[in-house]
Amino acid sequence: MSNILLLMSGSIACEKASGLIPVFQDRGDCVRVILTQSAGHFVSSSKLLELGGEAVFADTFALNEEMQHIDLGHWADIIIIAPASANTLNKLAAGIADDMLTTTLLAAYSLNKPTLIAPAMNSRMLAHPATQASMKTLQSWGYHLLETAYGELACGEVGRGRLLEVEQLLAAIDAATKKPQPRAETTKGRLLITVGGTREAIDSVRYIGNRSSGKTASMIADHLSAAGYAVTALCAESALKPVLAEVITFVSFEDLAKQLKRQLSTENFVAVIHPAAVSDYSIEALLGADNQPLCTTGGKLSSKNSLLIQLTPNPKLLGQLRGWSKNTEIKVVGFKLTDSRDVQVQREAVGRLLSQDSIDAVVHNDLSEITEEQHSFHFYTNASANANDCNGATELSAGLQQWMEKAP
Ligand SMILES: Cc1cc2nc3c(=O)[nH]c(=O)nc-3n(C[C@H](O)[C@H](O)[C@H](O)COP(=O)(O)O)c2cc1C
Repeated sequence: MSNILLLMSGSIACEKASGLIPVFQDRGDCVRVILTQSAGHFVSSSKLLELGGEAVFADTFALNEEMQHIDLGHWADIIIIAPASANTLNKLAAGIADDMLTTTLLAAYSLNKPTLIAPAMNSRMLAHPATQASMKTLQSWGYHLLETAYGELACGEVGRGRLLEVEQLLAAIDAATKKPQPRAETTKGRLLITVGGTREAIDSVRYIGNRSSGKTASMIADHLSAAGYAVTALCAESALKPVLAEVITFVSFEDLAKQLKRQLSTENFVAVIHPAAVSDYSIEALLGADNQPLCTTGGKLSSKNSLLIQLTPNPKLLGQLRGWSKNTEIKVVGFKLTDSRDVQVQREAVGRLLSQDSIDAVVHNDLSEITEEQHSFHFYTNASANANDCNGATELSAGLQQWMEKAP
């Protein structure tokens, strides 16, 4: 049982965030709420009390409550700002304390209570340099900045900026407060997922890598953990890591291949999901101007000399996963990124993977569909010729879960 301080600022997502209160109450947690003046336009104190809130505060100077902005920080075990408006985020990053919410948060800082911030706003408000800089600042001060979801926004536009779903907010809260994961035998089963991109070292400081951030795979890992799977994530050292999964890191293609083989052959996974961006090549040799091999052990190559990097193609990992697996019934999900607007070309690329017996489903996306604002996926299974289209990682995660729980 925890004391939860829920801070709400002015967003249409106040109603969604209010949905946290009955869930906290069911879990035996005690919830007190602080509203900004704007939040009061979206949700009423009486409604929040009706939902199970123990008390609602909105006025720093309310009679007999003058010290609540100090006391509430001490009382709280966990603080969550949901929804966090652009205005409130930007004020917090500037250290402004001109209302009950911002004053309480400023006063609570050095108490080191786990504090999560769940933004919700229009996608252009989110993309504004002030908002982006504020989020980075708050993160650097130790606040847990949560993602926003992609989808239809209150203004009718479609983009990034939606408040996470209640289930995702709860998963993030549990992760931040390090509630133990359910034990494998009490879950829906063990699941392995690869996150981020490989790096092939040229010398001790340089490498050949790719742009994979690990964001989509991490969201999938967290969604499936929250849905009751015991997830092991093989993560690139540089990738965004899931918060709810067990994390094991890798660097190179060889590392990843070894880890996959080790995990799959020793543990009983129900599924392996393989979104990692794996290098198509490993470095075979580094040659100097005279075509003689260069020695790089433990050091940095001189930039004065010319350098020839000889690459050798890597075998594809996806087709080998089931063969390595202790559980021969394991479900194998691959990812295919294409670079062609031609639907026929895209379908053929997916078809080539799905025609392999060792692959059950493929998540496809094309470079043309990936922008700052949008990330679409098409989920194909070997049971149907038609794709299930998903807008963003949240929808994709839900689609994957649904398929795993339906697939024979
Ligand atoms: C209908 C409506 C919906 C709004 N939704 C949001 C929102 O989701 N996110 C946001 O940052 N601002 C939103 N705003 C604007 C904020 O409410 C406004 O910037 C306000 O000053 C925020 O104050 P606060 O941060 O003190 O709560 C909305 C305004 C209106 C009228």
